Amino acid sequence: MIFDILTLFPEMFLSPLEGSIIGKAREACKVTINLFNIRDYAEGKHRVTDDYPFGGGKGMIMKPEPIIRGVEALQANKPTARVILMTPQGTPLRQEMVKRLAQHARLIIICGRYEGVDERVRAVVDEEISIGDYVLTGGELAALVLVDAVARMIPGVLGDEEASEDDSFSKGLLEYPHYTRPREFAGRRVPEVLISGDHQAIEQWRRAETLRRTWERRPDLISRARLSDEDQRILEKLNGTSGTD
Ligand code: ADE
Repeated sequence: MIFDILTLFPEMFLSPLEGSIIGKAREACKVTINLFNIRDYAEGKHRVTDDYPFGGGKGMIMKPEPIIRGVEALQANKPTARVILMTPQGTPLRQEMVKRLAQHARLIIICGRYEGVDERVRAVVDEEISIGDYVLTGGELAALVLVDAVARMIPGVLGDEEASEDDSFSKGLLEYPHYTRPREFAGRRVPEVLISGDHQAIEQWRRAETLRRTWERRPDLISRARLSDEDQRILEKLNGTSGTD
């Protein structure tokens, strides 16, 4: 999979994309991440990329021509790419979106800066994505979040031991609690069932904890999730105990 990133600050991407799982995936050519400086597509001696807003107001607006020229130059390459604009006005990023985007062979990601981009940039954009209801200084950190989340869904990027199937959100619920050695730490013991060797009991415990955790922390996810009859029974029990914990 190819990620082509259009940004005014390519250096912001270097270290986060070098280390760990994404760094290894790049070395193994499972993902290619190309950085393009929007300034290189700007014209004139000063290669200006921003300007004052028509109608007045604070801040600077990113000019349309350099961004659109950049997208058009990249779209001349194959395979065809889906064009994404990172903006707090976009659709909030969720795991289903991440999975869908991982099906594409190539994404072009535009990082906005300043007060925003000229509205006419939207003509070349397929999708606008926000990483949450807060405003960053630019789309670069948001693009990094997107690349990380999408890249780890590409087959072969995660090893078996890091499989993405059981993740929080992969089935629309939060993950159960995890423990490793020691069995007892600071007077707190690992739940007995996890050292029982009884795989069926462990699976049941994990499912119940997944439901409990999601019900306590993210009840909004429960209402969207596909639940079995057994899940419903567990939730009814939790509802019965609410207020007593
Ligand atoms: N640019 C600035 N804030 C952003 C956000 N929350 N999501 C995506 N892009 C952004």
